[in-house]
Amino acid sequence: MINLETAEYNVRPCKYEELQKVILINETTLPEHYPTYFYEQIIEKYPESFMVAELKKEPGKLAAYIMWRIERGISSFGIQLVKKGHLVSLAVSEPYRRKKIASSLLKNSMLEVKDYGVDEFVLEVRISNQGAIDLYQKTFGFKKIRIIEQYYRDGENAYYMALKVDDLNFDKT
Ligand SMILES: CC(C)(COP(=O)(O)OP(=O)(O)OC[C@H]1O[C@@H](n2cnc3c(N)ncnc32)[C@H](O)[C@@H]1OP(=O)(O)O)[C@@H](O)C(=O)NCCC(=O)NCCS
Repeated sequence: MINLETAEYNVRPCKYEELQKVILINETTLPEHYPTYFYEQIIEKYPESFMVAELKKEPGKLAAYIMWRIERGISSFGIQLVKKGHLVSLAVSEPYRRKKIASSLLKNSMLEVKDYGVDEFVLEVRISNQGAIDLYQKTFGFKKIRIIEQYYRDGENAYYMALKVDDLNFDKT
């Protein structure tokens, strides 16, 4: 699906000392910000699926990040209790968009989340964020499960989207 050999970036787990770079990307790309301890908790608990994209030509320069947490809840596809990989945040710095960086981060991190033993992947996305919705729906097969009214602080609604692990259409190579 994605040829990492020819890509301009490497996708790899985030290092603890890179958290400030991740926070900077978050603060310049998304209205949802978190305190530093929040990032620290995620990297401590789920280090394998907290990933960054580093530019090959500028080692140490990060273009994007993705982070997940694991939780239990009612299945989006039934009534049973399941283990979910919940996408906490994904952002690509503006100059590096439409180069499949988000796709590559999602693919690689979802395989790590799968290894945590989850049954489903879930996420929230602004209903106006058509680019991200297309990414989740068309590239990965996420389904819109429901609308969460006023999910965001500014009052915008979110789509709650989910994908069964069994419906992942790629494997570790
Ligand atoms: C959404 C975001 C993560 C996409 O990152 P990206 O690296 O540019 O995405 P990709 O290059 O992997 O895109 C893969 C596919 O997703 C869809 N897509 C991604 N961005 C899109 C956009 N702005 N408009 C329309 N479709 C888009 C397209 O189908 C695209 O395939 P194509 O380029 O062959 O048409 C990025 O724009 C971003 O960080 N936005 C701000 C933060 C944000 O919205 N995060 C998600 C919160 S839920």
